[in-house]
Amino acid sequence: MKHGHRFLESLGGFSVNEKNHLTINSVDLVDLAKLSDRPLYVLNEDAIRKNIKAYQSALSTYYPGKSEIFYASKAFLNLGMCYLLNQEGMGLDVCSEGELFIAQKADFPLTKIIFHGNNKSHTELAKAIQAKIQCIMVDNACELDDILKISEIQATTTNVMFRINPVVEVDTHAYIATGVKDSKFGLDIDDPLTAALIETAFKSHFTHFKGIHFHLGSQVFDFVTYKQAIKKIVAYIKFLNDKGIEVEVLNIGGGLGTPYTINDTSLTIDRFIQELCGQICEEYQLNNLKLPTLMVEPGRSIIAAAGCTLYKIGHIKDYGSDLLYAAVNGGMSDNLRPSLYQSQYSAVIGNKMNWEGPTQEYKIVGKCCETGDVLIQRISLPKCQPGDILIMFVTGAYQHALASNYNKHTLPGILLVREGTYEWFTKEQPYEGLIQNDVVPEHLKKVV
Ligand code: LLP
Repeated sequence: MKHGHRFLESLGGFSVNEKNHLTINSVDLVDLAKLSDRPLYVLNEDAIRKNIKAYQSALSTYYPGKSEIFYASKAFLNLGMCYLLNQEGMGLDVCSEGELFIAQKADFPLTKIIFHGNNKSHTELAKAIQAKIQCIMVDNACELDDILKISEIQATTTNVMFRINPVVEVDTHAYIATGVKDSKFGLDIDDPLTAALIETAFKSHFTHFKGIHFHLGSQVFDFVTYKQAIKKIVAYIKFLNDKGIEVEVLNIGGGLGTPYTINDTSLTIDRFIQELCGQICEEYQLNNLKLPTLMVEPGRSIIAAAGCTLYKIGHIKDYGSDLLYAAVNGGMSDNLRPSLYQSQYSAVIGNKMNWEGPTQEYKIVGKCCETGDVLIQRISLPKCQPGDILIMFVTGAYQHALASNYNKHTLPGILLVREGTYEWFTKEQPYEGLIQNDVVPEHLKKVV
């Protein structure tokens, strides 16, 4: 690959063929882009499996106790993903009835599912309890009350963990920081009510108190915050232990950041797990506690870099400055992240790899009716023409998951690529999907 694609090289799996087209595992991405008029999401199966294995091997290397990995399905979920995760022996973190429904449809082992969410409905809780999933992560007092009542009605004992907010400062976008003061998630570590609720769950016949969970936020790259949080949480576990409440499990959430551009910090899964396990073991030893079962809930770090999106360039506008506007056949309806979090992305022109011709600065704009629908504010690319294929990288997490039908654009399809071959993973939404739930009241059908 030509110099200038250092970021792409760091992602792995990509190369350039004799037509100067970008390929993933020998599949020509320019050919794939012809499969639809809409953008297309592409996921590299090998990369997903590699990231999963990186977590598994790091945990078995650095954590002396038992550990379990729960993929955070909010990052990306479809039926096939559930099957892939099950093949890899992974657990699943769901946070809605919809995610649980997909897992159940895929026959995902229920005992490997944990349920999150800051406002689980009565129905959601009843379904999760009925399904006998592994554990419900309690977010608030009201929810515990509901779990106790439902478990009594169903004459069962429900495994629960408590989501504790360690209240630290988290260096990430404010919208995705959770373990911070006044977060809407979890129970405050300093509130006496938190320990009282844990005690209730511990003593009740209808709940089995398993342990403590915390999640600092997403796209986090620094250990300092994790270390502060681990220190506070282990001290809290010691406090519970001294009250006679045994904490069997510690769940440290997800959050490991993924680089989206060459300028972003890069932190490997191996290093991340090594540092955190070291810190956990140290704190447990200092507090003279027995090591817990360790749970992690990674989402982005498993799937983000395994994905890319294929767009077609339509018109190009020249306002007389050095920056031309190149419009693509998608936008904020298939990638909300630049508009919502001002996220930055890398891209190439997939049919102009190893380009020797002139380059140009572009603003990549979408086709949604919003001025803020800009995918990339400024990027240098080979001089573009309508029909060129723009490929954006690191789009596997929170892209399809956040996609919408805004402007009644249909949801793009997803292709799963393996060595030399590809298959549909999720088909493009048909136009019928845009109206399938609409109901026209009879009185509106009469023309007066
Ligand atoms: N566990 C819990 C309880 C979570 O709330 C999340 C993410 C995760 C695990 C997984 O975090 P990850 O490893 O993926 O960072 N839409 C945002 C991200 C929202 C994250 C929500 N919670 C974005 O596109 O950046």
